[in-house]
Amino acid sequence: MDAAVDVLLERWRGFIDDALARHLDTVGDRDGVRPPARLLDAMAHSLLAPGKRVRPLVVLAAATAVLKDETRALERAMPAALAIELVHTYSLIHDDLPALDDDELRRGRPTLHVAFDEATAILAGDALLTDAFAVLAAAGASAVHELAQAAGSAGMVGGQLDDVAAEGTTPSIEALARIHAKKTGRLFEAGAVLGGLCAGGNGDELVRLRALGRHLGLAFQIADDLLDVTAGAAADKGTGRDARHDKATWVKLLGDEAARARAHAEADAAVALARGFDAAALAALCRRSVARTR
Ligand code: IPE
Ligand code: IPE
Ligand code: MG
Ligand code: MG
Ligand code: MG
Repeated sequence: MDAAVDVLLERWRGFIDDALARHLDTVGDRDGVRPPARLLDAMAHSLLAPGKRVRPLVVLAAATAVLKDETRALERAMPAALAIELVHTYSLIHDDLPALDDDELRRGRPTLHVAFDEATAILAGDALLTDAFAVLAAAGASAVHELAQAAGSAGMVGGQLDDVAAEGTTPSIEALARIHAKKTGRLFEAGAVLGGLCAGGNGDELVRLRALGRHLGLAFQIADDLLDVTAGAAADKGTGRDARHDKATWVKLLGDEAARARAHAEADAAVALARGFDAAALAALCRRSVARTR
């Protein structure tokens, strides 16, 4: 596609990976008390595994969409990028637990409760979630509020409960869209808004970024549901786990073809909003949310 954007996103991905590793190397309270070694090992197992880093990339891309000076935009937005990946990784660790999706493979590695044990997995998730807000404090109260609302009881966590409750049922398309807007969409929305906030975006810019994140999140979750069926057993997606749990998914409700069409429509809406910022990296992330194999 666009080779220059590819190179840019790869470079940003490197910065994010470096920041995540540095975070684990330095996390602790102000007296220099470090986390227990087993907790750190568990956090590293999940956090430093090869995730796609899409949400922190959305933060950085939204920041540069608003503040065209890349160096300054990245500098200002990096705490938010780091924080959102910490929250996302916690959500994956807990999502995989036996009480939720009961999965054994994540990011190409055994899930945390399999590699360690359930207690450690629960606590490593708790630690990543809580530490995220210590990091995000650098970005100010509005940023903290935005991520807390997105991740909390009326956002991602609420959506996860709705998702579990919908197992074995066939909700309407509108109801499924509401569940997925919460369990996945809210973090994408927060990613776009956080980038804009850190870059000093105005009210109109934040409204447009929020809408972009909402469309992007829905496109991303529909693609995730499709990958669960189509990615092939070699990937940690593609093992048909959703059907085994009789999850309420886009594929179950619409079938592959209509699900793919809806994903493309959501991605197109997100790309159109990115174009309004003349933001190539942000547009590429929106396009790739559906054109992905993992
Ligand atoms: C998986 O997210 C969970 C969903 C909300 C679909 P990702 O597909 O972004 O997972 P990683 O971060 O790349 O592992
Ligand atoms: C996960 O959705 C959403 C989260 C909040 C973690 P899924 O359960 O579909 O994600 P995967 O397929 O396990 O990555
Ligand atoms: Mg789940
Ligand atoms: Mg899952
Ligand atoms: Mg899934």
